[in-house]
Amino acid sequence: MPDLSRITCIEDLRVIAQSRVPRMFYDYADSGAWTEGTYRANEANFQKIKLRQRVAVNMEGRSTRTTMVGQEVAMPVAIAPTGLTGMQHADGEILGARAAKAFGIPFTLSTMSICSLEDIAESTEGHPFWFQLYVMRDRDFIERLIERAKAANVSALQLTLDLQILGQRHKDIKNGLTAPPKPTFRNLMNLATKPRWCLGMLGTKRRTFGNIAGHAKGVKDLSSLSSWTAEQFDPALSWADVEWIKKLWGGPLILKGIMDVEDARLAASSGADALIVSNHGGRQLDGAPSSIEALPAIAEAVGTEIEVWMDGGIRSGQDVLKARALGARGTLIGRSFLYGLGAFGEAGVTRALQIIHKELDITMAFCGRTQIDEVDSSILLPGTF
Ligand code: GLV
Repeated sequence: MPDLSRITCIEDLRVIAQSRVPRMFYDYADSGAWTEGTYRANEANFQKIKLRQRVAVNMEGRSTRTTMVGQEVAMPVAIAPTGLTGMQHADGEILGARAAKAFGIPFTLSTMSICSLEDIAESTEGHPFWFQLYVMRDRDFIERLIERAKAANVSALQLTLDLQILGQRHKDIKNGLTAPPKPTFRNLMNLATKPRWCLGMLGTKRRTFGNIAGHAKGVKDLSSLSSWTAEQFDPALSWADVEWIKKLWGGPLILKGIMDVEDARLAASSGADALIVSNHGGRQLDGAPSSIEALPAIAEAVGTEIEVWMDGGIRSGQDVLKARALGARGTLIGRSFLYGLGAFGEAGVTRALQIIHKELDITMAFCGRTQIDEVDSSILLPGTF
């Protein structure tokens, strides 16, 4: 186990991940669509919100424990589904799921993961985890995926609604993103500078999309995310499909990618258990507001009917607290998780969770609260949100 005591913030992990992960995969994780304006705003807009410092309030007996869709969590943070996680670090999804299990928060496996549903079930000894689903044209394949998720002890399903077509990320095109990387001169030169990553990859058989390979019919060129999305994802997705999936799944259903109050109302009336205010980390519609900007109106409109969560731009426990204050019962972290993973594998994910938890706990105390469930917008300075 590396000594990570001097790694004190998520930015430390990001810098190390950037030096250890091959450029194509680091860039894939750390980029947004087109001008990257929304991607940057997700992070930047948290900084505008100011906290009210309170003093002489008893700070003892603090707890960040709460629930998300009725499931106990050590803090209101889940690991977000991120594509190609097993390319940030060999067996990345397995390591992330193990770290989340030990910390007591949910791990979400992406449809576009490298390790499969069965890999996660096996390596976490049947511990419940969450699964993220895209609606693909091949409905039989979806039915089979949902059956596999049930068999793997998945305890909540996240249905992503905002990626039926892929937002353009310039870097992925320029880097020629594929999983595994093609052995071009440029890629080999870059891989030669990442010996730890290469060694890890030599030690695993998981190098392409584990939920799909060998399971979906007629999928050509599986290694390319963009052609695969264009061929397989159903652009005709509608609320009727949401209902169909809800019936098929039968368990807690979370709708991801809601940015508009009207869509939030439809999500609430669909009977889903939670919705995630999310612009997909700024990777889809560039020009959309930041998630934290979109959150208050959605929480106000439907927060009593459906659990409202958010993701996008969370790099600290302060951000989690601000999201909670603005009506998010839960949050998800994508890049903060991937930086930890890319930097130090499982130990890095654990470190990222420790950092966020400590920041959340201490900030909550400075704001004069001891229980996360008591946090509301009264901890924020009026006029700053
Ligand atoms: C997939 O979810 C992506 O954003 O690339």
